[in-house]
Amino acid sequence: MKKLYVKTYGCQMNAYDSARMADLLAPLGYAASDAPEGADMVILNTCHIREKAAEKVYSELGRLRHLKAENDGLLIAVAGCVAQAEGEEILRRAPQVDLVVGPQTYHRLPEMIARIARDGGHALDADFPALEKFDSLAETQASDISAFLTVQEGCDKFCTFCVVPYTRGPEHSRPPEAVLAEARALAANGTREIVLLGQNVNAYCGVDAAGRSWSLARLCDALAKIEGIARIRYTTSHPRDMGDDLIAAHGDNEKLMPYLHLPVQSGSDAMLDAMNRQHTAETYLRLVERIRAARPDIALTSDFIVGFPGESDADFEATMQLVRQVKYAGAFSFKYSKRPGTPAAAAKKQISEKVKTERLDALQKLLLQQQDDFNDAQIGHVLPVLFEKPGRNPGQVVGRTPYLQPVHADGDMALIGGIADVRIGARTVNSLKGVLH
Ligand code: SAH
Ligand code: SF4
Ligand code: F3S
Repeated sequence: MKKLYVKTYGCQMNAYDSARMADLLAPLGYAASDAPEGADMVILNTCHIREKAAEKVYSELGRLRHLKAENDGLLIAVAGCVAQAEGEEILRRAPQVDLVVGPQTYHRLPEMIARIARDGGHALDADFPALEKFDSLAETQASDISAFLTVQEGCDKFCTFCVVPYTRGPEHSRPPEAVLAEARALAANGTREIVLLGQNVNAYCGVDAAGRSWSLARLCDALAKIEGIARIRYTTSHPRDMGDDLIAAHGDNEKLMPYLHLPVQSGSDAMLDAMNRQHTAETYLRLVERIRAARPDIALTSDFIVGFPGESDADFEATMQLVRQVKYAGAFSFKYSKRPGTPAAAAKKQISEKVKTERLDALQKLLLQQQDDFNDAQIGHVLPVLFEKPGRNPGQVVGRTPYLQPVHADGDMALIGGIADVRIGARTVNSLKGVLH
């Protein structure tokens, strides 16, 4: 057996792709390994979203160069969004790299490996052959209790700060039959929860064999009928694509969990416009109202960018105000990072690092307070927890509430894979503690 080490950066779609690359290389004799030392092949599945994420790749490649000096046969591959954006540059800056594959071409890895073995040299493939990838992937071997399933890829929204439309290509939905087949295979392997993934997952519109197009709500209804699947989630949603049927599904589809990641980025209309988000703060707030009317207890989370070019104190205050109004269960927030080739990178009024830091600190303080408040509100309540794995301490199991909160409880390992009622007792830094009910 050869050893394969895959290191994943970035979003859940990269995590899904990493698992699929491992599935794809298994027939070539590669078994997963959890360290680069002693591996025969290393894949870095990279993220280009912010400068820091992209730079990490080069430092990791520096470390791998030493490993390659000790083991000449080591194959080094760079996959993911940095590979797509900077493929040629990677080969120039890091000649120790053998293979570069983009997010839409990693299914070609086996033939690329064979070509290098035959001819030597490097291989680079950064095409966007829509559809082809999913058709050529091996059947999923994943057996996680909660599993990712990519249903939609790419993005046509072109927010002015974002590299994704360039690294992942145009928006494209998988046919519903393919998604349902993959979900059935996961369920047969023991998966209980499916997390549907897409850059704009709620824009999903897969066309079936009869030529009918399916919305995400319809797909969730069909998934809910698969035996063994107890919970369905989806991420990431764009506020512009939150259809009426999807909002209604949060009230009607019992397997659809009361949790929604709905990034808003900013609460200032001027910033939203400059970001090309195509909605205002007001339309976002109305949308939140409608979602809460369908499912009052829903946990809402978001992403935020502070220090976007031209952001004034008043613009930032509008973001704080929106956060106070919505009351989030959690959020990710970032300092704006200039990305090559995106329109906002060329804007003149860039914000200083000092101001970005101040704004991020203030925003994160507020968001953390809201997260703690949301979690504290569950204390004393009994919630159904889907147990996923053993905890760090012996005799402990870890699972998640419908609101995606991690819960630790003392209990038998036989609980893993099942849903049990837990009385929530206390909050630790990032999770809840509970007692089986
Ligand atoms: N498709 C998703 C977001 C994918 S990127 C959506 O539309 O919401 C994940 C998050 O990274 C974004 O929501 C944004 O908050 C952040 N992000 C993207 N580009 C960024 C940049 N140039 N600087 C800082 N944060 C960025
Ligand atoms: Fe990026 Fe905007 Fe597309 Fe999200 S919707 S992936 S933020 S361009
Ligand atoms: Fe990063 Fe690419 Fe995902 S840039 S966030 S890995 S789509």
